[in-house]
Amino acid sequence: MRLQRIDHVGYAVEDIDEAIAYHRRLYGASVSHREEIPRDGVREALLAVGESYIQLLEPTRDDSPVARFLARRGPGVHHVGYGVADVAGTLADLRDMGVRVVDDTPRHGSRSCLVAFLHPKSAMGVLVELVEDPSLTAEGALRNG
Ligand code: CO
Repeated sequence: MRLQRIDHVGYAVEDIDEAIAYHRRLYGASVSHREEIPRDGVREALLAVGESYIQLLEPTRDDSPVARFLARRGPGVHHVGYGVADVAGTLADLRDMGVRVVDDTPRHGSRSCLVAFLHPKSAMGVLVELVEDPSLTAEGALRNG
């Protein structure tokens, strides 16, 4: 099994503070991490749910992919992040199987994770993000000696 966990579910939102308040009010969720990612044109907030996160994404510029998603489809689920031990290896294997990818090579996402996106056309209509979390990898390395 290549997938270790559901790392996060990413939501496109118009107003991140409103979305945080909504999740706090309904579920008692709180923010465990905030970051702005200029390359992707988003600011994000991560709300921890067990070992996974709800990821709220608000665009910071009109031409960002999340802004285009909001303009086209409105707020909603934008992508799903799958936790893997080795993004580069997983990406290479999937490409060998003919899977279309958005990122040819892994790149840095938030939380110092390595990430790569698969194209929805090759992923059952869902934008899939592979996520390698170095803090979990380090823990795993420690655990496994
Ligand atoms: Co994500």
